[in-house]
Amino acid sequence: MWRPFGPRGPSWWELSLQALSSTTAGYDRLAPRFDATPFRTPEPILAATLDGLEPVGAAIDLCCGTGAALAHLRARRVVGLDASAGMLERARARVPGAELVQGDVLDPPELGAFDLATCFGAFGHVLEADEPRFVRTLVRLLRPGGRFVFVTSDPRGPTLGRALARTFNGVMRVRNALLRPPFIMYYLTFELPRARRLLTEAGFGIATQPLPAPYERLVHVVATRER
Ligand SMILES: C[S@@+](CC[C@H](N)C(=O)[O-])C[C@H]1O[C@@H](n2cnc3c(N)ncnc32)[C@H](O)[C@@H]1O
Repeated sequence: MWRPFGPRGPSWWELSLQALSSTTAGYDRLAPRFDATPFRTPEPILAATLDGLEPVGAAIDLCCGTGAALAHLRARRVVGLDASAGMLERARARVPGAELVQGDVLDPPELGAFDLATCFGAFGHVLEADEPRFVRTLVRLLRPGGRFVFVTSDPRGPTLGRALARTFNGVMRVRNALLRPPFIMYYLTFELPRARRLLTEAGFGIATQPLPAPYERLVHVVATRER
């Protein structure tokens, strides 16, 4: 069976089954092989954005998956939130000290106040219409002065990649119009201009910088809750 991401990654058949499942059931299926896919945030991106942060009291990684970012957070309390029990099981093995919570990032359970929130590789699972709700989640979770650290793309990036991403989005729209339950996964979401606007309107101050090569098409954003 062809494994497009190498021998440890999922087969084409397993990826097809994932795409035909709901978002959460799809990730439950993919969890054992997720770390061998390019969907897992690469270590150099996590190191560039998280390793320089000073330790904090409480930090949360939203849509934590198998715990890639959790392993970089330095905090007395480290929480990972994800909708998929299968992904959380993998995170438990990677980061035994973290508190792992199953829940929806658009409606998380009461978890207390955090100094730092992060989210990597998951904005495509939040529909554009739900992005204001996602930002309200951040306001709820972060104490004033708390920071939201993430990476996103700048729409001035290469056009071929964007054309492919739009084609993928078109296929997913057709898939979701025809099949239930939906698999929510779209590219080019929460890009810098829109993320900046929504976060600024919600009272965040924004600082940005490009990531080092070969990730310079991505922007490292630190959004600080000012009110
Ligand atoms: C592409 S993976 C990224 C995982 C990890 N952050 C990383 O960078 O390697 C996306 C993750 O988002 C989670 N997810 C998708 N929709 C979610 C939702 N509405 N609430 C919480 N988690 C969600 C999935 O279960 C999956 O673990």
